Amino acid sequence: MTGVQTGSVTSLGLADGQVGGNDVADFNIERVCQNFPILREKVYGKQLVYLDSAATSQKPQGVIDAMSRFLLKKNANVHRGVHHLAERATEAYEGARVKAQRFLNAEHANEIVFVRGATEAINLVAQSYGKKHVGEEDEVLITAMEHHSNIVPWQMLCEQKNARLRVAPINDNGELLLDEFERLIGRKTKLVAVTHVSNVLGTINPIRHIVEMAHARGARVLVDGAQAVPHLKIDVQALGCDFYVFSGHKMYGPTGIGVLYGRSELLEEMPPYQGGGDMILSVSFEKTVYNVPPYKFEAGTPNMAGAVGLGAAIDFLAGLEHEALAAHEKEVLAYGTRMLSAVPGLRLVGTAHAKASVLSFVLDGVHPHDIGTILDREGVAIRTGHHCAQPLMSRLDIPATARASLGCYNTRQDIDALVAGLDQVRELFQ
Ligand code: ALA
Repeated sequence: MTGVQTGSVTSLGLADGQVGGNDVADFNIERVCQNFPILREKVYGKQLVYLDSAATSQKPQGVIDAMSRFLLKKNANVHRGVHHLAERATEAYEGARVKAQRFLNAEHANEIVFVRGATEAINLVAQSYGKKHVGEEDEVLITAMEHHSNIVPWQMLCEQKNARLRVAPINDNGELLLDEFERLIGRKTKLVAVTHVSNVLGTINPIRHIVEMAHARGARVLVDGAQAVPHLKIDVQALGCDFYVFSGHKMYGPTGIGVLYGRSELLEEMPPYQGGGDMILSVSFEKTVYNVPPYKFEAGTPNMAGAVGLGAAIDFLAGLEHEALAAHEKEVLAYGTRMLSAVPGLRLVGTAHAKASVLSFVLDGVHPHDIGTILDREGVAIRTGHHCAQPLMSRLDIPATARASLGCYNTRQDIDALVAGLDQVRELFQ
Protein backbone atom coordinates (compact mmCIF):
# COMPACT_ATOMS: atom_id res chain seq x y z
CA MET A 1 0.00 0.00 0.00
CA THR A 2 2.45 2.58 -1.12
CA GLY A 3 -0.40 5.02 -1.51
CA VAL A 4 -1.19 5.26 2.19
CA GLN A 5 -3.10 8.46 2.88
CA THR A 6 -3.40 8.33 6.64
CA GLY A 7 -2.26 11.15 8.96
CA SER A 8 0.95 11.54 10.82
CA VAL A 9 3.86 9.14 10.82
CA THR A 10 3.73 6.76 13.70
CA SER A 11 6.40 4.32 14.68
CA LEU A 12 5.73 0.67 15.30
CA GLY A 13 5.76 1.69 18.92
CA LEU A 14 9.29 0.40 19.37
CA ALA A 15 12.03 2.07 21.31
CA ASP A 16 15.60 1.74 20.04
CA GLY A 17 16.64 -1.88 19.96
CA GLN A 18 13.31 -3.27 21.10
CA VAL A 19 11.61 -6.11 19.35
CA GLY A 20 7.98 -5.53 18.40
CA GLY A 21 5.07 -6.72 20.44
CA ASN A 22 1.99 -8.72 19.45
CA ASP A 23 0.27 -5.75 17.85
CA VAL A 24 2.37 -6.17 14.72
CA ALA A 25 2.48 -9.95 14.82
CA ASP A 26 -0.51 -10.09 12.46
CA PHE A 27 1.26 -7.71 10.07
CA ASN A 28 -0.79 -4.58 10.16
CA ILE A 29 0.04 -3.21 6.72
CA GLU A 30 -1.31 0.26 7.42
CA ARG A 31 0.91 0.63 10.43
CA VAL A 32 3.87 -0.71 8.49
CA CYS A 33 3.29 1.81 5.69
CA GLN A 34 2.89 4.70 8.11
CA ASN A 35 6.53 4.21 9.01
CA PHE A 36 7.61 5.27 5.50
CA PRO A 37 7.00 9.00 5.03
CA ILE A 38 8.13 8.94 1.39
CA LEU A 39 5.26 6.66 0.46
CA ARG A 40 2.90 9.62 0.85
CA GLU A 41 4.69 11.46 -1.96
CA LYS A 42 2.89 12.21 -5.18
CA VAL A 43 4.60 12.11 -8.59
CA TYR A 44 3.05 13.95 -11.53
CA GLY A 45 0.06 14.48 -9.25
CA LYS A 46 -0.42 10.74 -8.85
CA GLN A 47 0.03 8.75 -5.68
CA LEU A 48 3.47 7.10 -5.66
CA VAL A 49 3.41 3.32 -6.06
CA TYR A 50 6.94 2.19 -5.26
CA LEU A 51 7.85 -1.13 -6.86
CA ASP A 52 11.64 -0.77 -6.99
CA SER A 53 12.79 -2.05 -3.62
CA ALA A 54 15.31 -4.47 -5.15
CA ALA A 55 17.19 -1.39 -6.40
CA THR A 56 16.86 0.34 -3.07
CA SER A 57 14.23 0.10 -0.36
CA GLN A 58 12.53 3.08 1.24
CA LYS A 59 13.52 4.07 4.78
CA PRO A 60 11.30 3.92 7.84
CA GLN A 61 11.06 6.87 10.20
CA GLY A 62 12.98 4.90 12.85
CA VAL A 63 16.05 4.73 10.59
CA ILE A 64 15.84 8.42 9.69
CA ASP A 65 15.44 9.33 13.38
CA ALA A 66 18.27 7.09 14.58
CA MET A 67 20.71 8.63 12.10
CA SER A 68 19.61 12.14 12.92
CA ARG A 69 19.83 11.42 16.68
CA PHE A 70 23.36 10.13 16.19
CA LEU A 71 24.38 13.26 14.32
CA LEU A 72 22.62 15.55 16.79
CA LYS A 73 23.80 13.92 19.99
CA LYS A 74 26.65 11.49 19.51
CA ASN A 75 28.78 12.43 16.53
CA ALA A 76 32.53 12.07 17.09
CA ASN A 77 35.17 9.78 15.65
CA VAL A 78 35.04 6.19 16.92
CA HIS A 79 37.82 4.22 18.65
CA ARG A 80 40.04 7.30 18.88
CA GLY A 81 38.92 9.90 21.41
CA VAL A 82 38.98 9.82 25.18
CA HIS A 83 36.21 12.39 25.42
CA HIS A 84 32.59 11.67 26.20
CA LEU A 85 31.17 12.14 22.72
CA ALA A 86 33.78 9.76 21.29
CA GLU A 87 32.61 7.18 23.82
CA ARG A 88 28.97 7.68 22.83
CA ALA A 89 29.84 7.37 19.16
CA THR A 90 31.92 4.23 19.71
CA GLU A 91 29.17 2.67 21.79
CA ALA A 92 26.58 3.39 19.07
CA TYR A 93 28.85 2.07 16.30
CA GLU A 94 29.83 -1.10 18.16
CA GLY A 95 26.21 -1.54 19.25
CA ALA A 96 25.25 -1.65 15.58
CA ARG A 97 27.85 -4.38 15.04
CA VAL A 98 26.25 -6.50 17.75
CA LYS A 99 22.84 -5.96 16.13
CA ALA A 100 24.28 -7.15 12.80
CA GLN A 101 25.81 -10.17 14.54
CA ARG A 102 22.43 -11.15 15.99
CA PHE A 103 20.67 -10.41 12.70
CA LEU A 104 22.87 -12.98 10.93
CA ASN A 105 23.20 -15.25 13.98
CA ALA A 106 26.98 -15.01 13.68
CA GLU A 107 28.88 -16.59 16.54
CA HIS A 108 31.02 -13.52 17.33
CA ALA A 109 30.66 -9.77 16.86
CA ASN A 110 34.21 -9.63 15.46
CA GLU A 111 32.98 -11.65 12.48
CA ILE A 112 31.06 -8.55 11.33
CA VAL A 113 33.08 -6.15 9.16
CA PHE A 114 31.40 -2.86 8.23
CA VAL A 115 31.88 -1.99 4.56
CA ARG A 116 30.21 0.33 2.04
CA GLY A 117 27.92 -2.41 0.79
CA ALA A 118 27.78 -5.89 -0.70
CA THR A 119 29.97 -4.82 -3.63
CA GLU A 120 32.80 -3.67 -1.40
CA ALA A 121 32.48 -6.82 0.71
CA ILE A 122 32.93 -9.06 -2.34
CA ASN A 123 35.91 -7.01 -3.55
CA LEU A 124 37.41 -7.29 -0.09
CA VAL A 125 37.13 -11.08 -0.06
CA ALA A 126 38.44 -11.34 -3.63
CA GLN A 127 41.46 -9.14 -3.01
CA SER A 128 42.25 -10.47 0.46
CA TYR A 129 41.19 -14.12 0.83
CA GLY A 130 41.21 -14.66 -2.92
CA LYS A 131 44.62 -13.13 -3.54
CA LYS A 132 46.10 -15.31 -0.82
CA HIS A 133 44.40 -18.60 -1.67
CA VAL A 134 43.62 -18.60 -5.39
CA GLY A 135 46.69 -19.50 -7.44
CA GLU A 136 47.56 -20.16 -11.05
CA GLU A 137 45.07 -22.51 -12.74
CA ASP A 138 42.84 -22.57 -9.67
CA GLU A 139 39.15 -21.96 -10.20
CA VAL A 140 36.43 -19.69 -8.84
CA LEU A 141 32.90 -20.89 -9.46
CA ILE A 142 29.98 -18.48 -9.82
CA THR A 143 26.54 -18.88 -11.39
CA ALA A 144 24.81 -17.61 -14.52
CA MET A 145 22.43 -15.49 -12.44
CA GLU A 146 24.99 -13.31 -10.64
CA HIS A 147 24.89 -9.53 -10.41
CA HIS A 148 27.96 -7.81 -11.90
CA SER A 149 29.19 -7.24 -8.35
CA ASN A 150 29.57 -11.00 -7.94
CA ILE A 151 31.21 -11.45 -11.35
CA VAL A 152 33.65 -8.62 -11.98
CA PRO A 153 35.66 -8.84 -8.71
CA TRP A 154 36.28 -12.54 -9.45
CA GLN A 155 37.21 -11.80 -13.06
CA MET A 156 39.72 -9.24 -11.80
CA LEU A 157 41.15 -11.76 -9.35
CA CYS A 158 41.35 -14.49 -12.00
CA GLU A 159 43.15 -12.12 -14.36
CA GLN A 160 45.64 -11.19 -11.64
CA LYS A 161 46.29 -14.80 -10.65
CA ASN A 162 45.92 -16.49 -14.04
CA ALA A 163 43.08 -18.49 -12.55
CA ARG A 164 39.85 -19.58 -14.22
CA LEU A 165 36.32 -18.31 -13.68
CA ARG A 166 33.70 -21.01 -14.15
CA VAL A 167 29.97 -20.47 -14.41
CA ALA A 168 27.26 -22.85 -13.21
CA PRO A 169 24.28 -22.94 -15.61
CA ILE A 170 20.58 -22.38 -14.95
CA ASN A 171 17.39 -23.76 -16.53
CA ASP A 172 14.81 -21.65 -18.36
CA ASN A 173 12.84 -21.07 -15.15
CA GLY A 174 15.92 -19.46 -13.63
CA GLU A 175 16.90 -22.28 -11.28
CA LEU A 176 20.42 -23.57 -10.82
CA LEU A 177 21.16 -26.95 -12.38
CA LEU A 178 22.50 -28.49 -9.22
CA ASP A 179 23.99 -31.60 -10.84
CA GLU A 180 25.96 -29.37 -13.20
CA PHE A 181 26.89 -27.14 -10.29
CA GLU A 182 28.26 -30.10 -8.36
CA ARG A 183 30.13 -31.37 -11.42
CA LEU A 184 31.86 -27.98 -11.72
CA ILE A 185 33.23 -28.04 -8.18
CA GLY A 186 36.56 -29.76 -8.63
CA ARG A 187 39.94 -30.16 -7.05
CA LYS A 188 40.98 -26.73 -8.33
CA THR A 189 37.90 -24.87 -7.06
CA LYS A 190 39.02 -22.59 -4.27
CA LEU A 191 35.94 -20.44 -3.98
CA VAL A 192 32.27 -20.65 -4.81
CA ALA A 193 30.45 -17.30 -4.95
CA VAL A 194 26.69 -17.45 -5.30
CA THR A 195 23.74 -15.18 -4.79
CA HIS A 196 21.19 -16.14 -2.15
CA VAL A 197 18.36 -14.46 -4.09
CA SER A 198 18.63 -13.32 -7.72
CA ASN A 199 17.92 -9.62 -8.26
CA VAL A 200 16.47 -10.32 -11.70
CA LEU A 201 14.71 -13.65 -11.28
CA GLY A 202 13.86 -13.71 -7.59
CA THR A 203 15.17 -17.28 -7.43
CA ILE A 204 16.08 -18.38 -3.89
CA ASN A 205 19.11 -20.64 -4.16
CA PRO A 206 19.57 -23.69 -1.89
CA ILE A 207 22.57 -22.29 -0.05
CA ARG A 208 22.85 -24.99 2.61
CA HIS A 209 23.05 -27.66 -0.09
CA ILE A 210 25.56 -25.64 -2.13
CA VAL A 211 27.75 -25.14 0.95
CA GLU A 212 27.71 -28.88 1.65
CA MET A 213 28.74 -29.68 -1.93
CA ALA A 214 31.51 -27.08 -1.90
CA HIS A 215 32.87 -27.95 1.53
CA ALA A 216 32.93 -31.65 0.64
CA ARG A 217 35.50 -30.67 -2.02
CA GLY A 218 37.40 -28.22 0.13
CA ALA A 219 36.09 -25.01 -1.49
CA ARG A 220 35.03 -21.94 0.49
CA VAL A 221 31.66 -20.32 -0.11
CA LEU A 222 30.72 -16.64 -0.31
CA VAL A 223 27.01 -15.83 -0.37
CA ASP A 224 25.74 -12.55 -1.81
CA GLY A 225 22.78 -11.83 0.46
CA ALA A 226 21.93 -8.35 -0.86
CA GLN A 227 18.49 -9.39 -2.11
CA ALA A 228 17.86 -11.96 0.60
CA VAL A 229 18.18 -9.95 3.82
CA PRO A 230 14.95 -7.94 3.44
CA HIS A 231 12.91 -11.11 2.92
CA LEU A 232 14.49 -14.17 4.52
CA LYS A 233 15.60 -15.01 8.03
CA ILE A 234 19.36 -15.45 7.79
CA ASP A 235 21.36 -17.80 10.00
CA VAL A 236 24.96 -17.99 8.81
CA GLN A 237 25.76 -20.80 11.23
CA ALA A 238 22.89 -22.93 9.92
CA LEU A 239 23.83 -22.10 6.31
CA GLY A 240 27.43 -23.03 7.07
CA CYS A 241 28.82 -20.46 4.61
CA ASP A 242 32.28 -18.94 5.00
CA PHE A 243 31.35 -15.41 3.94
CA TYR A 244 27.97 -13.67 3.76
CA VAL A 245 27.62 -10.12 2.41
CA PHE A 246 24.80 -7.62 2.26
CA SER A 247 24.01 -3.91 1.85
CA GLY A 248 22.02 -1.83 4.31
CA HIS A 249 20.03 0.10 1.73
CA LYS A 250 18.09 -2.85 0.36
CA MET A 251 16.81 -3.78 3.83
CA TYR A 252 15.34 -0.41 4.84
CA GLY A 253 18.68 0.99 6.01
CA PRO A 254 20.87 3.74 4.56
CA THR A 255 23.19 3.62 1.57
CA GLY A 256 26.95 3.48 2.04
CA ILE A 257 26.91 0.84 4.74
CA GLY A 258 26.92 -2.93 4.50
CA VAL A 259 28.30 -6.00 6.15
CA LEU A 260 30.86 -8.64 5.39
CA TYR A 261 30.40 -11.64 7.65
CA GLY A 262 33.41 -13.94 7.67
CA ARG A 263 34.16 -16.88 9.91
CA SER A 264 36.67 -15.82 12.61
CA GLU A 265 39.43 -18.18 11.61
CA LEU A 266 39.28 -16.94 8.01
CA LEU A 267 39.24 -13.24 8.88
CA GLU A 268 42.16 -13.78 11.22
CA GLU A 269 44.45 -15.22 8.56
CA MET A 270 43.35 -12.85 5.78
CA PRO A 271 45.62 -9.93 4.89
CA PRO A 272 44.16 -6.41 5.11
CA TYR A 273 42.31 -5.04 2.11
CA GLN A 274 43.16 -1.36 2.62
CA GLY A 275 45.73 0.38 4.79
CA GLY A 276 45.20 3.41 6.99
CA GLY A 277 44.11 4.53 10.42
CA ASP A 278 42.35 2.22 12.88
CA MET A 279 43.43 -0.97 11.07
CA ILE A 280 46.80 -0.98 12.85
CA LEU A 281 48.16 -1.77 16.30
CA SER A 282 51.42 0.04 15.68
CA VAL A 283 53.16 1.77 12.78
CA SER A 284 56.79 2.60 12.22
CA PHE A 285 58.57 3.26 8.94
CA GLU A 286 60.15 -0.17 9.28
CA LYS A 287 57.06 -2.21 10.12
CA THR A 288 53.31 -2.02 10.71
CA VAL A 289 51.50 -4.44 13.00
CA TYR A 290 47.89 -4.87 11.93
CA ASN A 291 44.89 -4.71 14.21
CA VAL A 292 42.68 -7.75 14.85
CA PRO A 293 39.49 -8.42 12.85
CA PRO A 294 37.15 -6.72 12.21
CA TYR A 295 39.22 -3.52 12.63
CA LYS A 296 41.97 -4.87 10.38
CA PHE A 297 39.47 -4.45 7.53
CA GLU A 298 38.03 -1.06 8.50
CA ALA A 299 40.74 1.40 7.52
CA GLY A 300 39.82 5.07 7.91
CA THR A 301 36.93 6.77 9.64
CA PRO A 302 33.92 4.52 9.09
CA ASN A 303 30.35 5.40 8.17
CA MET A 304 29.23 5.78 11.76
CA ALA A 305 25.79 7.31 11.17
CA GLY A 306 25.27 4.69 8.46
CA ALA A 307 26.06 1.86 10.86
CA VAL A 308 23.63 3.31 13.39
CA GLY A 309 20.99 3.57 10.64
CA LEU A 310 21.64 -0.04 9.70
CA GLY A 311 21.17 -1.01 13.35
CA ALA A 312 17.82 0.80 13.32
CA ALA A 313 16.82 -1.03 10.12
CA ILE A 314 17.62 -4.31 11.85
CA ASP A 315 15.40 -3.21 14.75
CA PHE A 316 12.66 -2.33 12.28
CA LEU A 317 12.80 -5.78 10.68
CA ALA A 318 12.92 -7.42 14.10
CA GLY A 319 9.77 -5.46 14.97
CA LEU A 320 7.90 -7.12 12.11
CA GLU A 321 7.16 -10.65 13.16
CA HIS A 322 9.09 -12.61 10.53
CA GLU A 323 6.52 -15.30 9.77
CA ALA A 324 3.83 -12.65 9.27
CA LEU A 325 6.09 -10.56 7.02
CA ALA A 326 7.05 -13.62 4.96
CA ALA A 327 3.38 -14.63 4.61
CA HIS A 328 2.43 -11.10 3.51
CA GLU A 329 5.22 -10.90 0.93
CA LYS A 330 4.43 -14.38 -0.36
CA GLU A 331 0.78 -13.48 -0.78
CA VAL A 332 1.53 -10.26 -2.70
CA LEU A 333 4.06 -12.09 -4.89
CA ALA A 334 1.52 -14.82 -5.69
CA TYR A 335 -1.12 -12.20 -6.50
CA GLY A 336 1.35 -10.30 -8.69
CA THR A 337 2.34 -13.48 -10.50
CA ARG A 338 -1.31 -14.31 -11.18
CA MET A 339 -2.25 -10.81 -12.32
CA LEU A 340 0.78 -10.28 -14.54
CA SER A 341 0.41 -13.72 -16.11
CA ALA A 342 -3.05 -12.68 -17.25
CA VAL A 343 -1.78 -9.59 -19.11
CA PRO A 344 -1.91 -10.37 -22.87
CA GLY A 345 1.56 -10.54 -24.42
CA LEU A 346 3.37 -10.46 -21.07
CA ARG A 347 5.94 -13.10 -20.17
CA LEU A 348 7.34 -13.44 -16.68
CA VAL A 349 11.11 -13.91 -16.56
CA GLY A 350 12.07 -16.05 -13.57
CA THR A 351 9.55 -18.65 -12.53
CA ALA A 352 11.57 -20.64 -10.03
CA HIS A 353 9.73 -22.79 -7.54
CA ALA A 354 11.50 -21.06 -4.64
CA LYS A 355 11.16 -17.36 -5.28
CA ALA A 356 11.31 -14.05 -3.41
CA SER A 357 9.65 -10.70 -4.13
CA VAL A 358 10.76 -9.97 -7.71
CA LEU A 359 8.53 -9.84 -10.80
CA SER A 360 10.61 -9.41 -13.98
CA PHE A 361 8.80 -9.45 -17.28
CA VAL A 362 8.85 -8.62 -20.96
CA LEU A 363 5.90 -7.40 -23.00
CA ASP A 364 5.48 -8.25 -26.70
CA GLY A 365 6.48 -5.40 -28.97
CA VAL A 366 7.36 -2.91 -26.22
CA HIS A 367 10.85 -2.09 -25.02
CA PRO A 368 11.17 -2.29 -21.19
CA HIS A 369 12.36 1.33 -21.06
CA ASP A 370 9.12 2.45 -22.70
CA ILE A 371 7.17 0.43 -20.15
CA GLY A 372 9.09 2.08 -17.31
CA THR A 373 8.60 5.58 -18.72
CA ILE A 374 4.86 5.20 -19.24
CA LEU A 375 4.34 3.62 -15.81
CA ASP A 376 6.32 6.45 -14.25
CA ARG A 377 3.79 9.00 -15.55
CA GLU A 378 1.17 7.02 -13.65
CA GLY A 379 3.20 7.25 -10.45
CA VAL A 380 4.34 3.61 -10.66
CA ALA A 381 8.10 3.23 -10.08
CA ILE A 382 9.73 0.10 -11.50
CA ARG A 383 13.22 -0.63 -12.78
CA THR A 384 14.00 -1.46 -16.38
CA GLY A 385 17.20 -2.57 -18.07
CA HIS A 386 19.72 -5.34 -17.61
CA HIS A 387 19.74 -4.95 -13.80
CA CYS A 388 23.54 -5.22 -13.64
CA ALA A 389 23.28 -8.79 -14.89
CA GLN A 390 24.24 -8.63 -18.57
CA PRO A 391 25.48 -12.26 -18.75
CA LEU A 392 22.11 -13.40 -17.40
CA MET A 393 20.33 -11.34 -20.08
CA SER A 394 22.48 -13.08 -22.71
CA ARG A 395 21.62 -16.47 -21.24
CA LEU A 396 17.92 -15.59 -21.40
CA ASP A 397 18.38 -14.12 -24.88
CA ILE A 398 16.74 -10.80 -24.01
CA PRO A 399 18.30 -7.32 -23.90
CA ALA A 400 16.45 -6.18 -20.80
CA THR A 401 13.40 -6.69 -18.60
CA ALA A 402 10.92 -4.56 -16.74
CA ARG A 403 11.08 -5.41 -13.05
CA ALA A 404 8.62 -4.77 -10.25
CA SER A 405 10.19 -5.63 -6.90
CA LEU A 406 8.36 -5.74 -3.61
CA GLY A 407 9.04 -4.59 -0.08
CA CYS A 408 7.19 -4.99 3.20
CA TYR A 409 4.99 -2.00 2.30
CA ASN A 410 3.58 -3.29 -0.98
CA THR A 411 0.05 -4.60 -1.36
CA ARG A 412 -2.38 -6.03 -3.89
CA GLN A 413 -3.47 -2.45 -4.68
CA ASP A 414 0.08 -1.69 -5.86
CA ILE A 415 -0.09 -4.68 -8.19
CA ASP A 416 -3.47 -3.45 -9.46
CA ALA A 417 -1.90 -0.04 -10.19
CA LEU A 418 0.91 -1.77 -12.07
CA VAL A 419 -1.51 -3.81 -14.15
CA ALA A 420 -3.66 -0.74 -14.88
CA GLY A 421 -0.50 1.06 -16.05
CA LEU A 422 0.39 -1.90 -18.26
CA ASP A 423 -3.05 -1.75 -19.84
CA GLN A 424 -2.25 1.82 -20.85
CA VAL A 425 1.12 0.73 -22.24
CA ARG A 426 -0.59 -1.92 -24.33
CA GLU A 427 -3.17 0.54 -25.63
CA LEU A 428 -0.45 2.96 -26.68
CA PHE A 429 1.56 0.31 -28.49
CA GLN A 430 -1.28 -1.56 -30.17
N1 ALA B 1 21.37 -4.39 -7.61
C1 ALA B 1 20.33 -3.42 -7.67
C2 ALA B 1 19.18 -3.85 -8.53
O1 ALA B 1 19.02 -5.00 -8.81
C3 ALA B 1 20.82 -2.07 -8.01
O2 ALA B 1 18.41 -3.03 -8.95
